[in-house]
Amino acid sequence: MTHSHSLPPYRSRRLRATPAIRSMVRETGLGVSDLIYPLFAVPGNNVDLPIPSMPGVRHLSVDRLVEECRIVAGLGVPAVLLFGLPETKDELGSGAYSDTGIVQQAVRAIKSALPELLVVTDVCLCEYTSHGHCGMIVGETVNNDVTLPLLARTAVSHAKAGADIVAPSDMMDLRIGAIRQALDDAAFAETPILSYAAKYASAFYGPFREAAQSAPAFGDRRAYQMDPANVREALKEVRQDIAEGADMVMVKPALAYMDVIRAVREITDLPVATYNVSGEYAMIKAAVANGWLDERAVVLEMLTGFKRAGADLIITYHAVDVARWIG
Ligand code: PBG
Repeated sequence: MTHSHSLPPYRSRRLRATPAIRSMVRETGLGVSDLIYPLFAVPGNNVDLPIPSMPGVRHLSVDRLVEECRIVAGLGVPAVLLFGLPETKDELGSGAYSDTGIVQQAVRAIKSALPELLVVTDVCLCEYTSHGHCGMIVGETVNNDVTLPLLARTAVSHAKAGADIVAPSDMMDLRIGAIRQALDDAAFAETPILSYAAKYASAFYGPFREAAQSAPAFGDRRAYQMDPANVREALKEVRQDIAEGADMVMVKPALAYMDVIRAVREITDLPVATYNVSGEYAMIKAAVANGWLDERAVVLEMLTGFKRAGADLIITYHAVDVARWIG
C-alpha cells in the first residue's frame, strides 16, 4: 500500500511506546513539595487515637504531633495544616483565640522542634463553638460582622505562636481584609494568608466533622458556604479575597470541583491550592479496604488530576503515603 497522494496517518502511540518517552512528553508533574498534610491536635499527653472514618488519620496530643511532624518533615513534605480540638467549647469559641489554645500550643511545639517545617493554621471557630457553627450566633443566624474580630484575633494569636501561614476557612464576608488589617497592626505584615476562597457547602466534609467534632448542632452551613452548583460565584469570591489581600487562594473540595480549580487558575497568577477533603479520602480508603481499588495508583492519578486542573498545592490526608511512594 502506498501513500503517494496523502500523508501517512498520524500515530499517537509513537510517543507512548516506552516509560522513557512517556516521561519525556509528560505535561504534568506531581511532587512532594506540592503537598500539605492536615493534622488534628487534641489535649493531653501521649494521645494517639485513630479516627474511624479516616483510616490512618489520628487525634494526636501535642507531644505525639511533634513526633508525627518529624516523620512528615523527614519525608520532604514541606507543610502541615493544623486543626485543634479544644478542652472545652463555648458560645464564643474562645478556645480558638486563646494564646494557650490547643493550636497555639501545637504551633509553638512544632516550630521549636522543627523550625524548617511550614506550619499552616486553619482559622475558624467551628471546632471551638458549642453550637458548631463557624461564627457567632445572633438570633437565629450566624452573624457575619460580629464574627470578624474573633477570626482576626484567632489569626493574630496563631501568628504570635509562630504560624507561618494562616488559612481562614469560615466563609464570612470581608474576613480576609479584617485578618490582613489585624495581622499588619500586630506587626505580622509578613505572614501570608491562604484563603479558603471558594469553599462549598459540601457533604464530603462528613468524616472531618466527626474527627473535629464540629458538626453544627442545628441547621447547616449553606448560608455561608457556597452552593455546589456555582462556578461564576467562585470567581467572584476569589477576586474579592485577592482584593482584600489574600496571598494564595483555595478551592475546596477538590474532586467534584476540578472545573472550579481550572477556572480559578485562569483568572489569577496567585498560587492556587485545593483541599482533597475527608470524604474524598474516606471513599478511597473504603474501596481499598474492600480490595476494589489499587490505592497507590488511584491516589497518584487523582492528585495528578488536581495538578492538571491547575492546582499548585494540594492539601491531602494522603500526603505522607504519597511522599513514601514518590519521594
Ligand atoms: C472548618 C473546616 C472544615 C473543613 C476544613 N476546615 C469543615 C467544615 O467546613 O464543615 C473540612 C475538611 C475536610 O473535610 O477534610 N470550617
